Amino acid sequence: MKLFGLVSPATAGLFFLNLWHGKKYLAEKFSQFSEHYSPKVAGELNGQMVKLVKFKGPFVWHHHDNEDELFYVVKGNFDMEFRDRTVTINEGEFIIVPRGVEHRPNAKEEVHVVLFEPGTTLNTGNVKNEMTKEKLEKI
Ligand code: NI
Repeated sequence: MKLFGLVSPATAGLFFLNLWHGKKYLAEKFSQFSEHYSPKVAGELNGQMVKLVKFKGPFVWHHHDNEDELFYVVKGNFDMEFRDRTVTINEGEFIIVPRGVEHRPNAKEEVHVVLFEPGTTLNTGNVKNEMTKEKLEKI
């Protein structure tokens, strides 16, 4: 078929190279899903993952024995609740929650958040319930 003649192996190689180094448009990626508290994997580097997640409402109290977590807000805002205080994270701000520290994200309105954490991090940490996501979709 003539169609195959249009794509040389070199072009196909470039295509895949572009995917590998592909830019990620956050707004577009966030528009591709609507579930809350269901992180999607947008990138991986050095054993760490870049995850996109939408929060709305309260999550579950949990901690992570071995992982620190970064939460970077790209749209909206949410409260990061700790046992002794609450910190509001606004658009353009981030917070790092150290390992071992109990926390609970709580968003009055939907918020778009980028997570940066080791690939082994389970969203509900030491807790397993209906909000636990073991297998994350790539986006
Ligand atoms: Ni956590």
